Amino acid sequence: EKLTVCVCGGGNGAHAMAGLAAAHAQTEARVLTLFQDEAERWTNFLKDGDFTIKRIFPDESVKEIKAKPTIVTKDASKAIPGADMIIFCVPAFAHGQYFNAILPYVQPNTAIIGLPGQPGFEFQCFHVLKDKARQCTIMSYESLPWACRILEFGRLVEILGAKDSLMGSIIVGKSKLKIDPAKTLQSMLGEHPILKMANNFIEPYLMTKSIVHPPLLYAKWRDWDGQPLSEIPLFYQGLDELGASSLSGVSDEVVATAEAISKQKPELAQTHVQHLLEWYRHDYRETVQDPTSLFTAMKTNQAYNGLVHPMKEAGQGKWVPNFGYRYLTEDVPFGLVVTKGLAQLAGVPTPETDRVLAWCQEKLGKEFIVGSELKGKDLALSRAPQAYGYKSLDDLVALL
Ligand code: NAI
Repeated sequence: EKLTVCVCGGGNGAHAMAGLAAAHAQTEARVLTLFQDEAERWTNFLKDGDFTIKRIFPDESVKEIKAKPTIVTKDASKAIPGADMIIFCVPAFAHGQYFNAILPYVQPNTAIIGLPGQPGFEFQCFHVLKDKARQCTIMSYESLPWACRILEFGRLVEILGAKDSLMGSIIVGKSKLKIDPAKTLQSMLGEHPILKMANNFIEPYLMTKSIVHPPLLYAKWRDWDGQPLSEIPLFYQGLDELGASSLSGVSDEVVATAEAISKQKPELAQTHVQHLLEWYRHDYRETVQDPTSLFTAMKTNQAYNGLVHPMKEAGQGKWVPNFGYRYLTEDVPFGLVVTKGLAQLAGVPTPETDRVLAWCQEKLGKEFIVGSELKGKDLALSRAPQAYGYKSLDDLVALL
């Protein structure tokens, strides 16, 4: 039976996913991209050339796949009707725009998939699509399945290392799909990553690795005197004991939140959530040279070689930190503010998260937290449960 997939977005991930969907047997792939003139440019390239995915495997073998989406458009009325799967492959700040665009056209029994979803994806989906969302299957994955990048817009995308495994979640609601969406996605992705299923949609929120970035920025720049630097500091490997202890504290609070939720609401069991140190010891066992502590694990993680702080040029060969980078703009409203919101619903105090958030929001020029409570005037710009009126863990259970 024929399958129709609509990929939302026009960046690296959307290029890769659109190509893999188009290459999948009996599948029509469409692309909905709302940003600027991306749809027009991509359409023009498709008219007179190939669309190629260059897939690089761990043994360094390369496979080139040529497959075209049938349509690339910014018009949801052309992309969405008849789609069995709608896959979001855009940064979280753009999700709201896509939910609103698809709203008039989403049909019951569609799978809506965040790839990645990032914390609060489901809250926003229910908020915008309302009853329509209950008729659909909502899924989200913790990250993109691979590292990937556009080499030539609309023509050529490179897929580098696929992750080993990828955790996702599913809310079936009242939907009855003609396909198994996780199996279908797996067959498009190939052998890796192996798609796994979390207990519930909250679990990936508390497993998100985006909590790493804000504490590292806070620790590095909180005492900065404002003077431009002549060298760009290392991001992960450059952390100091204070950074490690802040990060570990935030991670402790996330784990405490998971435990409190599991205890109060067995329906929302959080059995996969672990401290970051455990994650580094396991997932980076090949590259971490000294796994004694979070500090040593990050300092000696060879996978982080060369990764530096986001900086901007300040003239005369000097640099200042770029606080407009996604480590803050994405990972605060669609990351740490959401985990803070869950902690608040579970009654877990989070002094370290609060300290980090207070600093981050000032850099962003926003107010999410006031003291230890999420009641700032910009809370609605985040995807915390409180931003959508969820007042208790029972409100979250009701979404299952
Ligand atoms: P990207 O950086 O390629 O996304 C850019 C796209 O987002 C643009 O092409 C446009 O379609 C859209 N966009 C940009 N600015 C916009 C605006 N102002 N309004 C509306 N739309 C706008 O993102 P990418 O690389 O595809 O990543 C998607 C998500 O996956 C991100 O959250 C990223 O952090 C995550 N991720 C990416 C990885 C990668 O290797 N590319 C690896 C792991 C995770």
